Amino acid sequence: MNSSTLKNKTILLGVTGGIAAYKSAELIRKLKKEGASVRVVMTEAATRFIPPLTLTSLSGEEVYTDMFSSPMAHIELPREADLFLIAPVTANTLSRLASGAADDMVSACFLAFKGPVLLAPAMNWRMYEHPATQKNLKTLKEMGCTEIPPDKGELACGEHGSGRMADLEIILEEVRIALSKKDLSGKRVVVTAGPTREQIDPVRFISNRSSGKMGYALARVARRRGAEVVLISGPTSLNPPHSVEFVQVESAEQMYKAVLDNLKGADLLVMAAAVADFRVKAPSSVKRKKTSLRSLELLPTVDILERIAALKRRPFVIGFSAETGPNIATANRKLKDKKMDMVVFNDVSQKDAGFESDTNRIVIIARGLEKEYPLMSKEACAEVIFDHYLEFES
Ligand code: CTP
Repeated sequence: MNSSTLKNKTILLGVTGGIAAYKSAELIRKLKKEGASVRVVMTEAATRFIPPLTLTSLSGEEVYTDMFSSPMAHIELPREADLFLIAPVTANTLSRLASGAADDMVSACFLAFKGPVLLAPAMNWRMYEHPATQKNLKTLKEMGCTEIPPDKGELACGEHGSGRMADLEIILEEVRIALSKKDLSGKRVVVTAGPTREQIDPVRFISNRSSGKMGYALARVARRRGAEVVLISGPTSLNPPHSVEFVQVESAEQMYKAVLDNLKGADLLVMAAAVADFRVKAPSSVKRKKTSLRSLELLPTVDILERIAALKRRPFVIGFSAETGPNIATANRKLKDKKMDMVVFNDVSQKDAGFESDTNRIVIIARGLEKEYPLMSKEACAEVIFDHYLEFES
């Protein structure tokens, strides 16, 4: 489920003349899907790689390629835009932006624009590494622009190296980061996510159905809102969020250790992980025969949240209470027993609010607070969880 950060925002997209220009078509589609309107300016060179008509059709707006056909466009477009994204940006355009040139639509809009500028370079790796390009990038960063560095990989010229335009998902996430409020800046937020696995033998384990989606959404949203984020995750099929410190763990014990290791300076711990409650007393280092697996002796795992909440110096602690049924009383009891500062209750037996779903229906409970929310995307849930945290902190 998409974030709503881009809803009703106007993105000015600059396209310059490199082979990656064809990707701007998909980029426009993705930006529009999240509710943004996209206005496009192109250099003359870019029009040789992708016809303006393609981008006009996708954006639903006039595409500007020439300074003189619409003489005030280079002032009006920047005035109406919330963000200027130039993707791909070539070595030539970087040089022109850094020197203040203004004789094409992209560079003229750049000079007239007052908001956040994102630059996604794409070129041959030797051109990218050249001191002239690096110097121009440094100059532009000193002016406040953000570079979305190119990926390493196979380039259109057949060579390997750093020069391929960043993945569109990374570009989109940078746009969301640039357009989000920064009310968590200066905060260090530790989030746990996913299930843990408790080993029976090298091929078997005890685990649960947590997908990690809620915890990953929390990490992404906290990063967008300016926090320094550490995500400690059990095994999931999700990609680690962009620009977040990521720690991969397997068992409850490893997760506990990783939380302790990352607690220094933490303002907030969100325990979204579904930590397994039991571990096997004597895990085997060789595969056990099924005849010897009729019963397992189990021991409780360490209760990470309880241990952290009991520390003298500790961050604000938010826990989750995933129940099957409307057991708000259970969530309230966990809040008190485990000495959490806030608990997020959800009924995982409900359709659309379970472990693997992209949506959730939550109730946020804390001292003097019990607020029920309707079905929302997990990112929207993360937004309101942090809103309540900030209310308690202030
Ligand atoms: N939790 C934890 N360590 C554990 C078990 C749970 O830190 N070993 C955390 C979870 O991440 C969650 C909160 O405690 O934020 C509540 O977890 P939950 O499983 O609902 O509670 P339990 O106390 O384990 O109770 P039960 O499983 O019996 O409902």
